[in-house]
Amino acid sequence: MPETLSATGLTTGHAPFVEEARSRGKLYISQAYELYSEENHEAWRQLFARIQSKWERYANPHFLRGVEALDLPHDRIPRLSEINRRLQPLTGFQAKTVSGYVPGFLFFDCLRRREFPTTITIRPIDRMDYLPEPDIFHDVAGHVPMHTDRQFADTLVRFGECAATAAQITAGVRDYPERVRRLTSIMRAMSRFFWFTVEFGLMRGPNGTCAYGSGLLSSYGELEHAIESDEVQRYPLQLEWVINQVAEIDHYQPILFVVDSFERLFSEVDRFEQWMREGKLYNVAPGLPDIAESDLRSFLDAADSI
Ligand SMILES: [Fe+2]
Repeated sequence: MPETLSATGLTTGHAPFVEEARSRGKLYISQAYELYSEENHEAWRQLFARIQSKWERYANPHFLRGVEALDLPHDRIPRLSEINRRLQPLTGFQAKTVSGYVPGFLFFDCLRRREFPTTITIRPIDRMDYLPEPDIFHDVAGHVPMHTDRQFADTLVRFGECAATAAQITAGVRDYPERVRRLTSIMRAMSRFFWFTVEFGLMRGPNGTCAYGSGLLSSYGELEHAIESDEVQRYPLQLEWVINQVAEIDHYQPILFVVDSFERLFSEVDRFEQWMREGKLYNVAPGLPDIAESDLRSFLDAADSI
């Protein structure tokens, strides 16, 4: 590798290796492990060290077993090839390294194939607490341990199948603006459902409420806040509520939903698909998240190629 690349490391927002791939439209890349700087590894070490005690207290048991099963290193950024070697035999899931943003349909379609798009960069060491975009700590320390659990992994696959169903059932709508309107509403519903479960879900555990959502499990501050703060509203997961609930991304979540088990979550994704087929998702409440043009386009293109 050229000297200039290895000197800058793989820091989020400052990673020429990743930016160059992006500029060429290359989505799937290698981890380029040798490019991580000592500061990048130090960022991982610090993030891991301070969250460990929070995990012991607030993470759900499936996640803790996953951290152990993957033998997630605490002193350096993990090699994804090592993680995958341990993960694959358990549930068939693989972390797949990407250069950044994955358009909506492609993201869900990866889940359907048991691949999880994973960022390789890590946040700058002076911005440990909050980064709007995902980094390898969020993706690998927050998401991937959950993928060792069979029921949870199957639930992600069902989400992936729902995206295919959404593309299919709206493909037949002749009136283009109406097709876009219906698809946008379904995508908003799906995005909210995913947000309040896979990203920010809580679960009833043997010792009280615990977290399984990766947005919580990768956030030192929010993990404790989500479970302990009196300001957070926590309610049993209700599909009709979740799909209509505005999802805000720039502050701690004021409302969270609790599931009893992943078996229940899986059956709710089934129900979601059923509602989609019955046309119940064409008019969900407006508001966040906004549906990006590129995400919409990815669903339309997928439908056109069916
Ligand atoms: Fe995430």
